[in-house]
Amino acid sequence: MNVSGVVVERINAVVARLYPDAVGDLDSAARPSDRADAQINIALGLANKVGKKPRDVAQHIIEQLDVRDVCTKVEVAGPGFLNLTFADPHLTAALGAVSRDQSLGVQQAASPQHVVIDYSAPNVAKEMHVGHLRSTVIGDALVRMCERVGHRVDRENHIGDWGTPFGMLIEHLVDLGEVGAARELSVGDLDGFYKQAREKFDGSESFQQRARARVVALQGGDAETLRLWGLLVAESARYFATVYEKLGVKLTNDDLRGESAYNPLLAEVVERLKALSLLTVDDGAEVVFVDGFTNRDNEPLPLIIRKKDGGYNYATSDLACVIDRVERIGATLMLYVVGAPQAQHLSMIEAVATKAGWLNPPARKAPPARKAPPAHGASPARMVHVAFGSVLGSDRKMLKSRAGEAVKLIELLDEAVERADASIAQKNPELSVDERRKVARMIGIGAVKYADLANDRIKDYVFDWERMLSFDGNTAPYLQYAHARICSIFRRAGVSRESARAAQITLAHANERSLALWLLNYDSAVWDALERYSPHRLCTYLYELATRYTAFYEHCPVLKAESDAIRDSRLALCDLTARVLSDGLMMLGIESPEQM
Ligand code: ARG
Repeated sequence: MNVSGVVVERINAVVARLYPDAVGDLDSAARPSDRADAQINIALGLANKVGKKPRDVAQHIIEQLDVRDVCTKVEVAGPGFLNLTFADPHLTAALGAVSRDQSLGVQQAASPQHVVIDYSAPNVAKEMHVGHLRSTVIGDALVRMCERVGHRVDRENHIGDWGTPFGMLIEHLVDLGEVGAARELSVGDLDGFYKQAREKFDGSESFQQRARARVVALQGGDAETLRLWGLLVAESARYFATVYEKLGVKLTNDDLRGESAYNPLLAEVVERLKALSLLTVDDGAEVVFVDGFTNRDNEPLPLIIRKKDGGYNYATSDLACVIDRVERIGATLMLYVVGAPQAQHLSMIEAVATKAGWLNPPARKAPPARKAPPAHGASPARMVHVAFGSVLGSDRKMLKSRAGEAVKLIELLDEAVERADASIAQKNPELSVDERRKVARMIGIGAVKYADLANDRIKDYVFDWERMLSFDGNTAPYLQYAHARICSIFRRAGVSRESARAAQITLAHANERSLALWLLNYDSAVWDALERYSPHRLCTYLYELATRYTAFYEHCPVLKAESDAIRDSRLALCDLTARVLSDGLMMLGIESPEQM
C-alpha cells in the first residue's frame, strides 16, 4: 500500500460516518504538495455537496480523525486542503517495503486487460518520417508500461501495404528489374523509389494503364503480381527493421500486420453492415452515416466502406481490424497511437463499430438481429485514440532537412548517436572507445526518445539537438547521469547494490526526507501516466526524482557521512533512487548506462 493509503482510508471512513449522504464521487486522492508531505482535497467537493464552508468541513474531519500512528501533523490549509506530515517511522517502513519489493511499490493491474497497441505503422515503399518516430516511440513506451503492470500486450504494426499506389509501384519495380529495385529499396531510398514511380505515372499514359491493370491483378489475387508486391513489402520491412533496431524498440517483423492482412475480412465487413441495415448507397458508393458527424456545411458525413469502383477503403480495413482484434485476438482495450489529424477517422470507426456491436466480446455477442449491445455480460472492448502532435523545426514549421525535404528518421538517429559520442568523449575521456560507442548509443537514442516523450503528446514540439542532449534540465542525459553517478558511488565504495538494501534508512536531513517522499510516489506516477496514456507524466516524475537526488547528493555526503549507519542509510537511498530511475527509463524504452 502506498504511504498515504492508510490515511486516505481513515479519512474516507470518517467522511462516511459524518456525512453518510454525501459519500460517492469524492476526490480523496493524496497528492504531492510543496507545503506538506501530501495533500488531500476531499473537503472541497464535500463542502459543495453539503453546503458548508470547505475549511469548516476540513476541520470537522480532522477532529474525528485518528492518524497519530502515521502522521505527526494534519492541518487545514488554503481553501480547505488537508495537509499531512508523515511520521518518519511510517516513511522508513514504507521505503523498506518498496525496496524489498521487486516491483518497487508499483501495483499490478487489478483487472489485467488484453491490450492491442497499434503503433508505428509506416507505409511500404515510403520513407519513415518523424511522425512515425512519434508513433513508434510513444507506442513502445505504452507497450512497456502496460506490460510492467501486468497487462497482456499485442503489438500490431499496421503498415500501409495495400491500395491503389501499389499498381504504379509494382510497374516501376518491373521497369527497374527486381535486382535493381531491391538494391534501391534496401539502401533505404524509399522516397526516391516512390517519387520516380509517381513521376512516371503522372507523365505517361501507357504507364498509367499498366498501373491500373496491375491494381486489378493485385486485387484479383494474380500470383505473379502478388509475388512482386511481396518483394516490395519484404524490402520495406527489412528497412523498417533496421530503423527499429537502431531505435531499440520492441517491434519485430512478427508484429507486422498491415492493411493487406485484413483483405479476407473486407467482404465480410460489407456483408455484416448490410445485415445490420447500416449500409446506405450514396452517389454510387456504399457508406455508413453515423450520428454526430457532419461536414463543414453541416451535412451528414458518411464513412465510405466501398467506393463507386468497388474498391475498399482505409476505413474498411480499420473496421475489419476491430473485428479481428476483438473477436480473434480477444482484445479488451485497443490503443491507436496515431497522429491527431486522424482523430475524426478513428472516431467514425469507433462509432460504426459500436453501432454494429463489434466491440462486444465474442462469447457474449448479441444475436445479429438485436442491434443493442447485451444488457449484461462482459463490458465492450474500448478503443482509445492515443493522439499526438507534430515535430517542428526551430522555425516552428514542420521539421524539414536542409534541402527542404522531410527528415529521414534513420539519418536523425545516426546524428543523435554521433553527437552523443562527441559529448561523452569530452566529458569522460577515460572511457574506452568500445564502451564510449555503447554509451553513446544509449544516450543519443535515449535523448531523441525522451525529447519526444517528455512533452505532452498532444502538443507539437520543437526538435532541438542542443536541448535534448544537454546534461541539464528535463532530458534523458540528465536522468541517465544521475543513475550513472549512483553506480559510480557504489563502485568507489566497493559495496554491492544488493547488500545496501538491508540497511535501516533514517531521515535526519531535509534532503533525505524530500528524496524519500518522492521515491514513495513512484506507484502513483506510473499509474497516473498509464491511465492517461501520457508517458510525459512519468518523465516529469523522473525529472523531479533526479532533481531531488541531485540536491541530496550536494547536501548529504554519502561515502564521507558522519557515521557508518548514516552512510549505509544513504547508500540504501541511492540504490533505491537508481532502481526507480532505471525502471522508469526502461518503461520509456531508454537504457541506463552505469557510467558515462
Ligand atoms: N499508415 C498510416 C499512416 O502512415 C497509419 C496507420 C494507423 N493505424 C490504423 N489502424 N489506421 O498515416
